[in-house]
Amino acid sequence: MSELTPERHSLLEQARWAARNAYAPSSGFRVGAVIVSAGGRMFTGANVENASCGLSVCAERVALLKAVSEGERDFTELAVVADGDGGETDAPPCGACRQVLSEFSPALKVSYRREGEYVTRTLSEMLPDAFGWENRE
Ligand code: THU
Repeated sequence: MSELTPERHSLLEQARWAARNAYAPSSGFRVGAVIVSAGGRMFTGANVENASCGLSVCAERVALLKAVSEGERDFTELAVVADGDGGETDAPPCGACRQVLSEFSPALKVSYRREGEYVTRTLSEMLPDAFGWENRE
């Protein structure tokens, strides 16, 4: 578990701002994320829900897909913040997001709140034995 540096604090603050744009009429759970490319570009994301619930998209994937669609492929940092009805809550990225992030940067450092404390973990620690293209024949 890496240290929460001042840079990561500032990323979490950006994620907090991004959460303000969450579209979460169903859950009321507002999530914000910011992902940083190897070249230092930053892309924010917020969760976007849908009346057809299975079509809701998490904040992490919104940020990632914005970045990938702008030409980025390598990422160094991701920060995630969630705001529930009672204020800020734990926000471990879901399994689907871990898998999609792992497509690009298994060494990504992910900062999020876990059991009330902000931690930074490597994506490969969070998703050991990830399925990848090398597993396809
Ligand atoms: N959500 C995220 O944005 N990221 C996660 O990693 C977990 C869940 C969103 C999806 C949905 O809009 C809401 O949180 C409740 O599950």
